[in-house]
Amino acid sequence: MKKEPSFQYYASSVHTTTQHDLSSFQTDALVVFLSEGDVGRGKASEIDQATNGLLSKLIEQGELSGERYQCTSLFEPAGLTASHLLIVGLGKREHVDAGVLFRAASSASRQLATSPRSIVTFVADAHWTDTQMEQAVAGAMSGMIGQDLYRSKKKQVPFGKMIWISGKKDAVHNGSLLGDGVNLARHLVNLAPDDLYPESFAEHARAAASKTGMEIEVWDEKKLAQEGCRAMLAVGRGSYRPPRLVLMHYNGRNDSSQPDIALVGKGVTFDSGGLSLKTPDGMLHMKCDMAGGATMLSAASTIAAMKLPINLVAAIGLVENMTGSAAYKLGDVITARSGTTVEIHNTDAEGRVVLADVLDVVRSMNTKRIIDAATLTGACVVALGLDVAGLFTNNQSLCDHVIKSAHDMGEPVWQLPMFPEYDSQIKSEVADIKNVGDGRWGGAITAAKFLEQFVGDTPWTHIDIAGPAFAERPRPWIDGGGTGALVRTLISLARSL
Ligand code: BES
Ligand code: ZN
Ligand code: ZN
Repeated sequence: MKKEPSFQYYASSVHTTTQHDLSSFQTDALVVFLSEGDVGRGKASEIDQATNGLLSKLIEQGELSGERYQCTSLFEPAGLTASHLLIVGLGKREHVDAGVLFRAASSASRQLATSPRSIVTFVADAHWTDTQMEQAVAGAMSGMIGQDLYRSKKKQVPFGKMIWISGKKDAVHNGSLLGDGVNLARHLVNLAPDDLYPESFAEHARAAASKTGMEIEVWDEKKLAQEGCRAMLAVGRGSYRPPRLVLMHYNGRNDSSQPDIALVGKGVTFDSGGLSLKTPDGMLHMKCDMAGGATMLSAASTIAAMKLPINLVAAIGLVENMTGSAAYKLGDVITARSGTTVEIHNTDAEGRVVLADVLDVVRSMNTKRIIDAATLTGACVVALGLDVAGLFTNNQSLCDHVIKSAHDMGEPVWQLPMFPEYDSQIKSEVADIKNVGDGRWGGAITAAKFLEQFVGDTPWTHIDIAGPAFAERPRPWIDGGGTGALVRTLISLARSL
């Protein structure tokens, strides 16, 4: 039997030290952050002094600039015991924020992880805020792991031990939990669809729940039928892999009052398009269609690992959208769990059909707010490009909160409008609503308008991550594949509720 690659947590291999003498530090590689233009007064200047002005000289000669994410390796530098000094650029000092530090640290790790190393030491600057420190640590953890799951010879090897020179022990610890969270989401997205299907995703959720002490329920097809989740079941009917609904509960307030937040994820473990079949190009990366589910599982696990004082429910709708002989068809009318009838015009618009039931399940739990993440529409990628997530809401103050959290984490998001005029586009001739808009224009918004039908009055924000969840090509700071986009934003949101 084929063995599925397993996920490893690395938080326990991240350490801090208060030893500040950089020249005699025992490590395989030392990483120093450099702003554009000069060595400044921070840790880079200490390295400069220890190496008798080496950095200043290289800057003068134009060999080193501090340009954003540029990595420069110096070997056996005189004055240091470390045999490898890696200098990573931060760009202009005034533009350095948590997102820049995440990506800079990640770029450095990515470069260093190309060879096995037992100890890699990062030198943090004393003036970094706790948030900046956390994000740098999370970035360093994300960069050392690539989409190597199925390669016989790995291109990237995680460090044996990562040390941060910093007094901020708690921030380094939180950063290491965030790093594991981002990497878990990436890992799940990178698994092949024959390894990650509804039941096996649910097993990953069970493992994450037992690690962090969350309660978990997994609804199988029998329970889904009892609960009236006919929309989820309809989408799943074309596959021999039965659907699952994962419900995770975390009560950080030590009471079981109403959840402060529900995190809902689209978990389509493979989207062939169903009978409205995708083209080969359009289908190639559709293992990524469970990224919303992976984002929510990772965010919830990290929130539990951080023991945040909130009550939370995570709900992930898991199905495989296939073309089997029982597959749902165009013209089918499904009565969703809420009672709303839905006419199917396109089986490839399956995510919203799945989420209809999942949103209704959390709405009936009386949660205070709902956030969902979904690789919902190609139209959102047309509107905003590959790097930016779309936001849609029925409650501006909740959406503003998401925008602020995303901004604090350096993750780009952009809100799109939800004018009532769009509602008429999802009206159906034969049922309450249909599962696509009238034409393809404004497709990301008509999809969000469909979801809005199932949240009632609960404050809700939908995040369309079809662009940023998956990178077809590598970037300096991240290998291609799953990106873990929005995991940090959601954790930041939960910390500020
Ligand atoms: N999973 C896709 C959306 C998607 C596209 C995600 C590209 C990631 C990258 C979704 O289920 C889908 O196929 N949506 C259709 C909707 C259409 C049929 C109304 C789309 O966007 O084309
Ligand atoms: Zn689809
Ligand atoms: Zn889909």
